[in-house]
Amino acid sequence: MLTNNIRAAITAVNGHVPDYVLTNKELETMVDTTDEWITTRTGVKERRILKGNGLGASDMAAPCTLGLCEKRGISPEDIDMIICATVTPDMVFPATANVVADKIGAKNAFGFDLNAACSGFVYALSTGAKFVESGSHKKVVVIGVDKMSAIVDYTDRSTCILFGDGAGAVLLEPTEEEVGVMDSLLYSDGAGRHYLKQAAGGSVKPSTHETVDAKEHFIFQDGQPVFKYAVLKMADVSVEIMEKNNLTGDDVAWLVPHQANLRIIDACARRMGLGKEKVMINIEKYGNTTAATIPLCLWEWETQLKKGDNIILSAFGGGFTWGGVYVKWAYDS
Ligand code: UT7
Repeated sequence: MLTNNIRAAITAVNGHVPDYVLTNKELETMVDTTDEWITTRTGVKERRILKGNGLGASDMAAPCTLGLCEKRGISPEDIDMIICATVTPDMVFPATANVVADKIGAKNAFGFDLNAACSGFVYALSTGAKFVESGSHKKVVVIGVDKMSAIVDYTDRSTCILFGDGAGAVLLEPTEEEVGVMDSLLYSDGAGRHYLKQAAGGSVKPSTHETVDAKEHFIFQDGQPVFKYAVLKMADVSVEIMEKNNLTGDDVAWLVPHQANLRIIDACARRMGLGKEKVMINIEKYGNTTAATIPLCLWEWETQLKKGDNIILSAFGGGFTWGGVYVKWAYDS
């Protein structure tokens, strides 16, 4: 519910993916898998990997945010807030948002990281919008970035085929027009924490030789329960946000789903009554980049978006977390 007439409009979008392409063919040489299995079970054909020592999430998020400023024609010093959604921060602390601000010269921004795994971007977008709607902040950068290759076990065929690295970002600015972030529904259920996690390295199980030997710093995923919950909850929240805003499938121009598995995306679109032509899908090129999937889609589809388009962003991820955001696109590119 708005307390004034200010909405948070997305006024620019940008993406950044590393150059190295890890194909299904290359994965066939690393683990017991096939291009056919990966393609039919997940939809992924290739993913990008950030190679090089000493490079982390901020090395994708910083160029992504600089490019965002260039596209909008603003200086990094104009930014007053940076929210960085990630589960693969440069370090446990300080926050990667702080590192990004320093690297790009965003001297007037405060920032923090937000951890909601694959729902990170929808959580962060909704959070950033509140700061703009309140009138307190006027140029808020929302980043979704993950270097999943840092926590993927490339001997585990059930997870290494899924994930990739990348960053996407949007700029939020105030508007009094009927565009921007119109509504959001965010949920979580911590009982799901056992099915998708990085078990060690936190305060419960600090890093030791034993945790490294037990591979507890890699992603653990019990795929089937996660899959079942994801299909249900991503579709539920997408339908719920449509109904709450009196939108039918005909009113929705685009679904921007988190890219975890093509079968989850298809199920979600079906429940919403949307044809494939209205669904942004790039999982075949990038795999699951966790917090970056949704802004990477917006970046790739930007030229097709028109002012006034009704767009539903929808995600499900570790936590469990899930959520939907209803955006009215604010500009013709
Ligand atoms: O983004 C955050 C949320 N994450 C998700 O939404 C992911 C949700 N889960 C999934 O997308 C799916 O569960 C996976 C893609 C991870 C796995 O697909 P699945 O259809 O659930 O496969 P499964 O785990 O039931 O495994 C089926 C078979 C097993 O063999 P057996 O036991 O039937 O002989 C696996 O060992 O497929 C085997 N398998 C593989 N075979 C070839 C698992 N991974 C592979 C592989 N290549 N890479």
